[in-house]
Amino acid sequence: MTWLNRDVISSLDFNREDLMQLFNEAKEMENYAKSKLNILDGKIMATAFFEPSTRTRLSFEAAMLRLGGRVLGFGSVEASSVAKGESLGDTIRMLDSYSDIIVIRHSLEGAAKYAADIATVPVVNAGDGTQNHPTQAMLDAYTIWREYGRIDDLTIGILGDLRYARVVTSLVQLLSNFKVKLRLISPEILRPRRELVDFMRMRGMNYSLHLNLSEVLSELDVLYVVRIQRERFPDPVEYERVKGSFKVTPESLIGAKDTLIVLHPLPRVDEVDHRLDSTKYAKYFRQSALGVPLRMALLKLVLKGD
Ligand code: NCD
Repeated sequence: MTWLNRDVISSLDFNREDLMQLFNEAKEMENYAKSKLNILDGKIMATAFFEPSTRTRLSFEAAMLRLGGRVLGFGSVEASSVAKGESLGDTIRMLDSYSDIIVIRHSLEGAAKYAADIATVPVVNAGDGTQNHPTQAMLDAYTIWREYGRIDDLTIGILGDLRYARVVTSLVQLLSNFKVKLRLISPEILRPRRELVDFMRMRGMNYSLHLNLSEVLSELDVLYVVRIQRERFPDPVEYERVKGSFKVTPESLIGAKDTLIVLHPLPRVDEVDHRLDSTKYAKYFRQSALGVPLRMALLKLVLKGD
């Protein structure tokens, strides 16, 4: 399927061929992530962020500006007429008439799909609810591909909030296009939801569930860490019970492969020790920097085609 005018709602909408096309384009864009192209001259990107964001919104904006386009939008509910009671549907109708592409983040599951059904311009899901954040997953997989030159035949550990972190669902779905081994590590109550386990089983993925990093550390090529999603816990007492229950430190990585890379979508709270930042394992800052070329590639493909 061609990328032109395509909505980006879920990782499941993209196959291996789509992803390789995106990655090759992103690699090319790395040459321009600190300069300027005129590919999207005259195009406008609207950002509708109903939830907090630093990296996703700003890397989308930087990407659009580097491509010669322009950006408008809002970064919080308070900054829009939603604060006056305007509906999501009406807000999207307005942005649809002001822009060529809409990037949306929302706390409600399905909000991006709903926006895409209303809008005539392409809609990109920059995270909605607890299940989908496809462009983060693309960035995560891209970082792995840039670090290893491949994704196939890697063993990837995902540690943290596997229940409420939308990046986890989107990443697992995306990785189902590759031949990987998944090691899912979390406290009991943060284990992945039934739907995700069923998905992995249905797709015949090689996966296993673990309580402690030490059980699988020595076989990992990638350790992907995600914070406990406090704001998505239905019960604050449950959060109190698990907070601080895991932390990656230089000591906890003793016994890891020399080539291990540690990724994190960020923001981190306390699950990755700052002392790790200066070790060879830490690749999360490179990962967030690659957000610009990856999103440049995505905007180019959706707005201009191949
Ligand atoms: C993620 C998100 O918003 O889901 N952040 C991001 O986009 N880098 C992960 C998180 O908030 O933990």
